[in-house]
Amino acid sequence: MNDNTFSPSLHGEVYYPSPQVVEQARLKDWQALAEFAEQDLEGFWAREAEELEWFQKWEKVLDDSNKPFFKWFVGGKVNIVHNCIDRHLTTARKNKLALIWESEDGKQVRTFSYYALNREVSRFANILKAMGVRKGDRVTIYIGRIPEIIFAMLACAKIGAIHSVVFAGFSVDALRGRIQDSQSRLVITADGAYQNGKIVELKRITDEAIKECPSVENVLVIRRTGHEVPMEANRDHWYHDLCALPVANGKCPTEVMDAEDPLFILYTSGSTGKPKAILHVHGGYMVGVYSSLKYVFDLKDEDRWWCTADPGWITGHSYLVYGPLLLGATSFMFEGGPVYPYPDRWWQCVEHYGITVFYTAPTAIRSLMRFGEAWPNRRDLSSLRLLGSVGEPINPEAWRWYYSVIGKERCPIMDTWWQTETGMFMITPTPVVPLKPGSGTRPFFGQKAEILDEAGNPVPQGQEGYLVLLRPWPSMLRTIYGDPERYVQQYWSKYPGKYLTGDSARQDEDGYFWIIGRTDDVIKVSGHRLGTAEIESSLVSHPAVAEAAAIGLPHEIKGQAIHVFVLLRVGFAPSPELAEELRQHVAKHLGPIARPEAVNFVDKLPKTRSGKIMRRVLRARAQGLPEGDISTLEE
Ligand code: PRX
Repeated sequence: MNDNTFSPSLHGEVYYPSPQVVEQARLKDWQALAEFAEQDLEGFWAREAEELEWFQKWEKVLDDSNKPFFKWFVGGKVNIVHNCIDRHLTTARKNKLALIWESEDGKQVRTFSYYALNREVSRFANILKAMGVRKGDRVTIYIGRIPEIIFAMLACAKIGAIHSVVFAGFSVDALRGRIQDSQSRLVITADGAYQNGKIVELKRITDEAIKECPSVENVLVIRRTGHEVPMEANRDHWYHDLCALPVANGKCPTEVMDAEDPLFILYTSGSTGKPKAILHVHGGYMVGVYSSLKYVFDLKDEDRWWCTADPGWITGHSYLVYGPLLLGATSFMFEGGPVYPYPDRWWQCVEHYGITVFYTAPTAIRSLMRFGEAWPNRRDLSSLRLLGSVGEPINPEAWRWYYSVIGKERCPIMDTWWQTETGMFMITPTPVVPLKPGSGTRPFFGQKAEILDEAGNPVPQGQEGYLVLLRPWPSMLRTIYGDPERYVQQYWSKYPGKYLTGDSARQDEDGYFWIIGRTDDVIKVSGHRLGTAEIESSLVSHPAVAEAAAIGLPHEIKGQAIHVFVLLRVGFAPSPELAEELRQHVAKHLGPIARPEAVNFVDKLPKTRSGKIMRRVLRARAQGLPEGDISTLEE
C-alpha cells in the first residue's frame, strides 16, 4: 500500500495495517480497485465472474431495464455447485480438505476432501431425485450444525431445487409458517441436535409442525443423536437406510441452471407481519459471495477458515457453505457454541486446527470477554492472521478485547456490515484499510451508500439518518418469494431508486460509516434477527393474553434483549408464575432464541389513533428517555 493512500490524519482511534499485513494481502492497492469499480461497475463484476466457470457465458452483465427487478449475468448458464465442487476436482484441490468438522463433545471429528464432498453431495442429490424432487421444488432443511446440512443444501442446488433452511433454534410455529409459505414437498431434518450437552428434538418439532402442512410428502431424517424418535410409515425415511440403496451412488450430474434461476429462499424478519422469503439466485449470488470473501478475508490455499455462524442464517449460507467452497478453501465447522463446556472451547479449536482466519459475532466476543483473558491465554492462537465480526454493531470495548486478547494486536478485524437481503458484505474493510473500532469503514467495491433524512435529502456529515445503497450488486435479493409487491414496497418505495436497508447510520469526517441500529421493528438478539410481529403473535396465542407488544432493549451480552408488554384477558391476573409461563410459551412455540427477557403486565398499550402500537414510545419509557413526537398518540 502506498503510504499516502490513507492520510495519517484520519480522525479518532485508528489502527493502521502493519507492514506484515500489507505484505501478505492479495490486494494491496485498495483504492485503485475501488476507483475502477466505481467507474466501471459492470466491468468490475464481469472480471470477478470470469474467475469462475460458466457452462455458457452471459450476454449482458447487468440488466436494469425493469427496476427494481435487476438481473445479472443475463443469458449465462451456470450452477453454483459446479464452482463449489466440480471445478476443483480437475485440479490439485481434489484431495485438499474442504471441510473439517468437530462434534460439540469433541469426541468425533469428520473430514471431507473436495473429492469426498462431491461423493456425499452426489449421493444426497441422487436420493433427492429418487424421492421425486425436481428442479424448482422447494425443500425445507431443519438440521443442526453437522456436515449433512451442507450436503443437503448443496444437493438441492446441484439438482436445481430451491432450499429453505430453517435455523434449528426455531421451533414449531416458525417452522410451520416457513414450510407453509414455501410449499415445500420435502423436509430434511435430524433425530435431534446437540446444544450445550442437551438434545433439541428436531424430529418431534417437525412432526408437530407438519401436521398443518399438506404440501409435505416426505420427511428425510438424518441420524445424529441416535435416540428414539417416532417414524411415520411411507412419509418418514432414515437417510442412512436410503444410502444403502443402489440409487444412492456417488455420481450425479450437476444441473445446468440459468444465472437467474433461484438457488435458495431464506426467511427473515421485516418491519411488519410474517417473515419474508428472501430469494437468491445461482449466478449473481455466486459471484458476489466469491468476490467479497476473496477480497475481505483474503482466503488463500494455505488458509484454514472458520466462520462460527449457523448455516440457518445468511452468514452461514454465504460464508460457511458457499463462499469458502467457491474459493477452494479449507473450512472448519464446529457443532457447539463458545462456552460449553468451558469458555476456551473455541480457542481450543483454533489451536488444534491451526485456524488462520476467524469470523464471528460481537455477542460471542462479549460473552467470552466476561470470563477474562486467562481462558484464551491458555491457548496458542498464533496461527490467526485475520479476524472478522458480523451481525450487529461491535462496541469499541469488545473490539479492543478481540483485537488485543485474541488477535494479539497482529490481526486486523474485518467488521462486515451486510444483510440476508444483500447476500454479501456491503460495508466492509479489506485487510489493508485502516480500522476504527465499531465502524465497518466503507462500501465494498462498486457500491455507494448514503445517509438520508425523512425527506430523502442527505443528512449533514456526522448526523444520523436512514442508510441506503445506491448501486445494484450481483448478490442482491431478486424478490420476496411469492410477493414481488412487498419486495418493491419494502425496499424501494421510501426513496425510489434507492435500496432501503432498514438501518440507521452516520458517516464521520473520514467517510467511514457507523451503523447505529434498525429503524424498523426488527430486534437483534445475539445477532439473530427477530421480528416483533412474530413474538407478539406467539404471545397472543396464549389463552391469557389479549394484546402484546415486543421491543428490544440494550443488553450487555446479547446486544438487544426482548422485553414484552402484555395486556391480559379478563379473568387473568398478573403474577410472576404467569410471566414465566409466557416466556416459556414463546420459547416452546417460536424457539428458545425468542424467549423474552422480561414480561411486563400493563393496562394499556400506547397506540396511534389508527390503532398501531407505538413501540418507540414503549422503548423510550422503558429507558427513561424522552418520548419524542407523541402527537399521534391516542390517550
Ligand atoms: O442491522 C444490521 C445488522 O444486522 C442486520 C441484518 O441482519 P441479518 O439479515 O440477519 O444478517 C446478519 C448477518 C449479515 C443489518 O440490517 N448488522 C449486520 N452486520 C452488522 C450489523 N450491524 C452493524 N455492524 C455489522 N457489521
